[in-house]
Amino acid sequence: MYKKKGIDLARFILEEERRYPHATGTLSHALLAIENAGKVISAHINKAGLVDILGRAEKINIYGEDVKKLDELANKWLIEHLSASGDFFAIASEELEEPVFPEVGKDGKYVILLDPLDGSSNIDVNISVGTIFSIFKKISDDVTTFFQEGYKQVAAGYIIYGSSTMMVYTTGNGVHGFTLDPMIGTFILSHPDIKIPSKGKIYSINEAYYLRWDGRIRNWLDTIKQNRYSLRYVGSMVADVHRTLLKGGVFAYPADSKNKNGKLRLLYEAFPMSFIIEQAGGMSTNGEKSILQIKPTELHQRTPVFLGSPEDIKELLNFLN
Ligand code: AHG
Ligand code: MN
Ligand code: MN
Repeated sequence: MYKKKGIDLARFILEEERRYPHATGTLSHALLAIENAGKVISAHINKAGLVDILGRAEKINIYGEDVKKLDELANKWLIEHLSASGDFFAIASEELEEPVFPEVGKDGKYVILLDPLDGSSNIDVNISVGTIFSIFKKISDDVTTFFQEGYKQVAAGYIIYGSSTMMVYTTGNGVHGFTLDPMIGTFILSHPDIKIPSKGKIYSINEAYYLRWDGRIRNWLDTIKQNRYSLRYVGSMVADVHRTLLKGGVFAYPADSKNKNGKLRLLYEAFPMSFIIEQAGGMSTNGEKSILQIKPTELHQRTPVFLGSPEDIKELLNFLN
């Protein structure tokens, strides 16, 4: 019943929790902290184009820190909100060399990984960007707590700041999408139980790197091009994966001769997006195995990424193996 379109995110989270009699409520609390941080970032992104103008007119810097880049600010706001929640023993971010261990999170059961602002080079040109998060149970007292296989994620999701702001997440019980109603500042369930189409008609890859790819990737692309595919590539992973989730097809960022492991980060980008895509009935791979089967050894490690509709990924694997 609570999966009916129109209910708000806070209620949805609490109703989900009720389904598990032993749940302590801490994960719900953590998800609500992310929701709040997402709203703060969304509000600032909508004003991003005005920062210079307003700042100059008023001769003050309107956020106190408008000299900072928005990705650094997004990182700061997220860390502040999530630290204050007390739910997280440790927070790792693409923007920080080392994880943060919040004072009030000493008894926190979870750890979280963040890409505070994904696709940040797109902000200046008014194109969609996002925030990506991934939550695991705490298993140790130091950085090794983050070195768990992706299938052990307790929750993962993203907030996309697009023509609307949306939060899409999974706790391993399907994928649900909520659209922010800017009039009332509430995320409303708009996309219950998202399922990726079993086959799509779009591939999403930075084709400018064609000459740097392995012959197997080139063959795959040359072949699917003969089958009336379209190319769409925003250059914000959040936007490209969001479209892939809803419309199907393939999102790919392979290794190339310059970047032996590709560009995308395993922990901040590949794990959460793969969890969402697989939960929606899709597939992910690094070319050898599901991305969710990889055991990390470093916080900032990179991985080749291929994810999308199951039939499209199976076809790709025929070329890679
Ligand atoms: P970020 O802005 O968090 O550093 O991530 C950028 C990433 C990702 O969003 C996107 O898929 C990829 O960079 C695009 O890279 P190319 O410009 O090499 O295609
Ligand atoms: Mn990113
Ligand atoms: Mn980023």
